[in-house]
Amino acid sequence: PKAQPLAGVKLMLTAGPTREALDPVRYISNHSSGKMGFALAAAARALGAEVTLVSGPVHLATPASVHRIDVESAQNMFDTVMAGIAEQNIFIACAAVADYSPKMVASHKIKKTHADNMVVELAKNPDIVATVAALPQKPFTIGFAAETQEVEKYALDKLTRKNLDMIAANDVSSSDRGFNSDQNALTLFWPGGQHRLPLADKTALAEQLLTLIAKRYHDIH
Ligand code: PMT
Repeated sequence: PKAQPLAGVKLMLTAGPTREALDPVRYISNHSSGKMGFALAAAARALGAEVTLVSGPVHLATPASVHRIDVESAQNMFDTVMAGIAEQNIFIACAAVADYSPKMVASHKIKKTHADNMVVELAKNPDIVATVAALPQKPFTIGFAAETQEVEKYALDKLTRKNLDMIAANDVSSSDRGFNSDQNALTLFWPGGQHRLPLADKTALAEQLLTLIAKRYHDIH
């Protein structure tokens, strides 16, 4: 049997996209499939962690022995994470959370009019990972940074600004990795260190990432 460096550790993670309703039949979302987050949940479980997976709408089976909670919007995801975060030792934010959502959700289907243009006003959503990392008893917190340009610069900026313990920078500018593909490549940054995980299947990558997280977690606890 494999070593279980996360035995007895409670780990929560977010995965998938969020859906921000415009009206009863329409929403704003993104191309996250949940594959990366679900692979991380399975890898964390294999290392012995007690895993809670907070997932947006995806078409994936729940990994064995993982507690899954389904959510829709960024606000739902925020409320669900905050309700359970106090007992967690590690938090990983892998979800592609909408930064903004429609200010008004129409209670009936929005009708087409004669106007050629339509304006939808958006309001900022709460930042889940930044809120978790600002808690007085914060868990060991890992964020992702999906970027299409200046990946390292923006990742390091998010690491500091959001007070994270580690960030996984994800270059999502090419279609062989990142959103919805089966493979991914990540560069990890933490205060005082970095490590590159080259292009690999998300399953293999998740195992490597969780092994590194377990090591960093034990180094500082
Ligand atoms: O699901 P897959 O198809 O497998 O694709 C995986 C992935 C590309 C979605 C994943 O690897 C990834 O990069 N996830 C983060 C995507 C993202 O939205 O990144 P961001 O740079 O916009 O957000 C930065 C961090 O803040 C992320 O950890 C995000 O979860 C978190 N966040 C963002 C906004 C918000 N309101 N709350 C948050 O917690």
